[in-house]
Order: sequence, then C-alpha cells, then structure tokens
Amino acid sequence: MAANKKLLILSGDGIGPEVMDQVKRVIDWMAKSRSVSFDVSDGLIGGASIDVHGDPFTDETLSDAMAADAVLLGAVGGPQYESLARELRPERGLLGLRSELELFANLRPAILYPQLADASTLKPEIVAGLDIMIVRELTGGIYFGQPRGVRVLENGEKEGFNTLVYKESEINRIANVAFDIARKRNSKVCSVDKANVLECTELWRNTVTDLHKKNQDIELSHMYVDNAAMQLVRAPKQFDVMVTTNMFGDILSDTAAMLTGSIGMLPSASLNESGQGMYEPIHGSAPDIAGQNKCNPTAILLAFGMLLDHIDRYDVGHELRLAILSAIAEGKCTGDIGGTLGTREFTQEILDRLQGKF
Ligand code: IPM
Ligand code: MG
Repeated sequence: MAANKKLLILSGDGIGPEVMDQVKRVIDWMAKSRSVSFDVSDGLIGGASIDVHGDPFTDETLSDAMAADAVLLGAVGGPQYESLARELRPERGLLGLRSELELFANLRPAILYPQLADASTLKPEIVAGLDIMIVRELTGGIYFGQPRGVRVLENGEKEGFNTLVYKESEINRIANVAFDIARKRNSKVCSVDKANVLECTELWRNTVTDLHKKNQDIELSHMYVDNAAMQLVRAPKQFDVMVTTNMFGDILSDTAAMLTGSIGMLPSASLNESGQGMYEPIHGSAPDIAGQNKCNPTAILLAFGMLLDHIDRYDVGHELRLAILSAIAEGKCTGDIGGTLGTREFTQEILDRLQGKF
C-alpha cells in the first residue's frame, strides 16, 4: 500500500483555527469512509507563532512544511500584531512559506454556483455561470523585489520604496501554467499587465506573447490592469483564465471573489515545480467575527477539495463539492450567503450529506 501523504496543518489566526476545525472533521470522515488518509501534523504560523515563539515563521515550521506533501493553511493576521516591526508581522509567515517553498503558481478559481446568483452584489445575469481561474504569480514581483524600505532624505523627509522586478524565466513559468490550465478549460488566456506605464510589465507582455507562439491552440489576449478591474465587474464572463503578477493578482482575486457572493467561498492552491502545494482560503483572518461560530468554512473545504484533486482523488474532491453545493442550494448555509447555520452546523450538514442523509 502506498504511504499516506503528509499533510501539515497551519491554522494561524482569527477565524483560521475555526475553519480548520471544520476541515479536520471532513478529513476524519474521509479517512473512515473513503480510505483517503493523511499523516496529519499541526504547526504554528503567523500571530499564533508570534504568541509562542516571538516569530511568525520558525525554522521548525519551515522544515515541517518542506517535509510535507501538502500544507493546509487557515489565515494569518490580527490587529494586535499591526504595531510590530514588518519582519515580525504575521504576514511574513505566509510570505516566507510561499517564498521558501517556491510556490510560484497561485491558482484562484472564482466560480459562481448558480444557487448563489442572488448573493452577488452584481445582477444575476452578469454573474450567473461565472467560472474564472486567476493564475497569480506568487513568489516574485513587488512583493519580494529588492531594494525595498523606507529611507530618510537629506531634508529629513521619509521616502518609501519597493521594486517591481520580473525575470523572463519567472514570467515564462507562470504563463506556461496558465496555458496548461486553459487547455483543460475553454482555451482562453488573458494576461493582465500595466505595459503602458511599467517597463517590467512590458517585458511581461512581450514574454507572454513570445511563449504564445508555442501555444497557438490557446487564444491569448492582453489587458491593462485598470481595464481588467473594470471588465471584471462589467462583463466577467468574458474571462476564462487570467494570468498576472503577484500584486495585480492579489487585487483582482478579491474583486473576483466578491462576484461570487462572498469572499468566504473561494479557495486557492499554490504549487511549486515539484508539485508540492499549499492550500488555503483566499479570505483573511476576519478577527471581527472570530470565535463566534459564524464564519463560512466553505473556502477552506473547497481548498481541501483542490488538494484532493491534486493528489489524484478527484472522485472524493468532487463528492465534497457536491455535498457543499447541495447544502447551499437548499439554503442550509452560513449567514454571509443568506443562510442561518453556524460554522459547525454547516459542516455537520455537509458531513450528513456525504454520509448520504440527504
Ligand atoms: C492573499 C493575502 C496575502 C497577500 C496577505 C495576507 C499577505 O491578501 O493571499 O491574497 O497579499 O498575498
Ligand atoms: Mg489578498
């Protein structure tokens, strides 16, 4: 029998532990009922790690993550950490993990389930049937570019600076991921940049255009990021796969999330070249609603579904998605998408459905 996959669980802060408790119930159920077992271990990241070790990202968490086949992450951050020096803030934990594991390909699917067409702030006819995959470059760009910092000028005024930098190789590897994904979908890629102003993204555009010569079966378009933001709320169904830089992807994926009714719905997978992955919701730690049995665990459950797909258990991943959808379709869901169930009760509803008690 093949060895179990190693799964590292990093719950993090705010609603992170709460949503993670829900996914653990599903993991236990899968082990008992679907023979998908993991060797699960828990670790600390972000504020939770600061509280214990004074460091958002310890060497221990890094080596546990390196040794794992997959990492499931809750969320990081909270108001109590905002006054810390940047290097000690919870977000450094998340960014450190992305960077050390070289998780360069961040896949953020934005799917509007028909049952939720009314939950979106956009008109149902604009969003019904929406199915976009945002492919965000995750280990480069302005998030990591050097030099960066805040310096004091001669006149005593402070000046902040960051560097937007991409090598051709970084652009090629993320664009390749986008073309491959598009090939399994509707064969359309829209590359988003700001080539009219930023040299770095002009190189991005030219590099993607060159790579397209080897991917002629895919329809490629280019769009400036300001227009892309507008098109996402004007006519989002024109998009199939969008590929973009770290920061533009961060911004556009929150917009795309809202099209789907609630930011509590969207999962994400971050992959490296050896197929190792980190799976997380795209929402943050939502400290304002933490601990109230109120948050929507759908995003992390769907992230676990992406993990199952990735380890070739699409069958159970799909089953999980169907159970979630059928619950939501009948209004058995959390308040953010119009239901009345608490976090734990919604998960129970899903477990009952998986168990066949429809
Ligand atoms: C995300 C988040 C992170 C990011 C933060 C928490 C550092 O917003 O995953 O989208 O900016 O990448
Ligand atoms: Mg974000």
